[in-house]
Amino acid sequence: MSHQLCIFASGTGSNAQKIINYFKDSETATVSLIVSDKPNVGVLSIAQKEGIKWKVLQKGELASESFASFLKDKEISMIILAGFLRLIPLSLIQAYPQQIINIHPALLPKYGGKGMYGMNVHRAVRDNHEAESGITIHYVNEKFDDGAHIFQASCQIYSEDSPEKIAKKVQVLEHGYFPMIIEKVLHSDRN
Ligand code: GAR
Repeated sequence: MSHQLCIFASGTGSNAQKIINYFKDSETATVSLIVSDKPNVGVLSIAQKEGIKWKVLQKGELASESFASFLKDKEISMIILAGFLRLIPLSLIQAYPQQIINIHPALLPKYGGKGMYGMNVHRAVRDNHEAESGITIHYVNEKFDDGAHIFQASCQIYSEDSPEKIAKKVQVLEHGYFPMIIEKVLHSDRN
């Protein structure tokens, strides 16, 4: 059975693009919908360029029952958070148990939680003189960055690395691993 994936993203969408590319000719899954909480962001241009249906969330819509039903009607079987900055409401977690996956640009449980996203994470890693950083791919629960871990990969950080340099290193890991780990999860999915 081929899975219909929905990507939630709030920004540029470079991870979304990698996931779309990876599953283009796949029998395992297709990216069939992109959802953003913001209009005019890069990920929506990607959706248009790729001919993928997209949707911008209205205020309060994420937590509405009709939104979960909308995704079910579209036969979405897995939700992928790729730079989505809103907290996922319980209603959606219950509609998609163990079927929502997030990527976080650090080695959780360090540098997670509210406000820890994007460059904020990399600045904190640099300010604390960490010797390594990395990525965590995890299931989503009702708290930020708190669900069970699926995969981690790390990279070395040097004292002279700027937050931008750290971001680049982490992004290489994200782009290299995220699509492949999604595929692994789909293959191990017994539902
Ligand atoms: C990625 O680095 C992702 O890990 C991060 O946002 C970036 C999105 O980049 N997510 C978080 O910080 C979530 N807490 P992209 O739009 O280029 O894919």
